[in-house]
Amino acid sequence: MNDNASRKTALVVGANGVIGRNLIDHLVTLPEWDIIGVSRRGGQSSGRVRYLSVDLLDPADSFDKLSGLKEVTHIFYAAYQDRPTWAELVAPNLAMLVNAVEAIEPAAPGLRHISLMQGYKVYGAHLGPFKTPARETDAHHMPPEFNVDQQNFLEKRQKGKDWTWSALRPSVVCGFALGNPMNLAIVIAVYASMSKELGLPLRFPGKPGAYHSLLEMTDAGLLAKATVWAATDERCANQAFNITNGDLFRWNELWPKIAAYFELETAPPLQLSLDTVMADKEGLWNAMVDKHRLANNSYKDVSSWRFGDFVFSWDYDFFADGTKARRFGFHEFVDTESMFLDIFEDLRKRRVIP
Ligand SMILES: NC(=O)c1ccc[n+]([C@@H]2O[C@H](COP(=O)([O-])OP(=O)(O)OC[C@H]3O[C@@H](n4cnc5c(N)ncnc54)[C@H](OP(=O)(O)O)[C@@H]3O)[C@@H](O)[C@H]2O)c1
Repeated sequence: MNDNASRKTALVVGANGVIGRNLIDHLVTLPEWDIIGVSRRGGQSSGRVRYLSVDLLDPADSFDKLSGLKEVTHIFYAAYQDRPTWAELVAPNLAMLVNAVEAIEPAAPGLRHISLMQGYKVYGAHLGPFKTPARETDAHHMPPEFNVDQQNFLEKRQKGKDWTWSALRPSVVCGFALGNPMNLAIVIAVYASMSKELGLPLRFPGKPGAYHSLLEMTDAGLLAKATVWAATDERCANQAFNITNGDLFRWNELWPKIAAYFELETAPPLQLSLDTVMADKEGLWNAMVDKHRLANNSYKDVSSWRFGDFVFSWDYDFFADGTKARRFGFHEFVDTESMFLDIFEDLRKRRVIP
């Protein structure tokens, strides 16, 4: 590895996440990168990608497994520990970043960059109506907020060092992944597939106002490109960027198009908690796996219902200003309607849904 100056070694922390997994898929297309994927589950190493199974909540395990990785030039941090409250997210998510950086940074003399995955929680988007469009320069809100604590840690640690940091702030991230707490594409795909199985129309399950509010998404592939760009373009050193598809939408326009993709009728929205009503659907899922000869994914692995309830509760505008990344040189965009349909098509090809 790193046999010449142009070679780079990425340590992708959170390699099985909806963000980490798609980042690795992108890095594999770039011949100058060697890739080390880190998470508890590990993965099947092949070619330029190798996986390490590490529990980042355990400082000793992190040190044992990571402190020998002298070749790492870039850390892409996209690990995440879910917790029931915003306050409880802080301790484990800060600890994982600290444990990763403390193990690698002193050991890797060629470290050039640490990329931090954040989100609109920096702007308080999860708390209620927030200022839109949210800008990178907006003031922080009252803590606790793990994204901000993670950025503060990196900013402090970077002082006087040769490496730089960048922070990426996507909206809801959509792409292929399984067994993830925050996976909107899976929520919609499995909800629609089950509606079809039960002979029901596709009803928007969110708050009435959420059907009409203005929001945006971030394609995981687009985010991967932006992440590598920000980590390797000197202009982006020590900067944060909103990364968005570049278009806005309302569910009231998109929902009927999603229904049409699944060959379903729509019916008027009806607010319900997916976390509650989908709790008894494991039997239905298992029957669908048998009947449609789907890949053998457990119901747990395709269940992000709590996240679905969260996203569909946003009865306020939910978008950020994406122009800073463009001003700094990143000009890619994704059409959100096509993005959803492409992901559903991919899920069908992989036999995740009928
Ligand atoms: N998903 C979204 O829509 C979205 C939107 C905006 C911002 N974000 C932010 O982006 C970041 C990543 O989110 P994500 O949705 O990609 O997360 P995710 O799908 O839940 O992935 C988290 C990753 O962290 C790994 N991980 C969890 N605990 C670990 C531990 N103790 N040690 C080692 N690895 C561990 C998981 O793999 P193992 O289970 O194998 O350990 C997985 O690879 C978060 O900060 C999140 O807030 C996400």
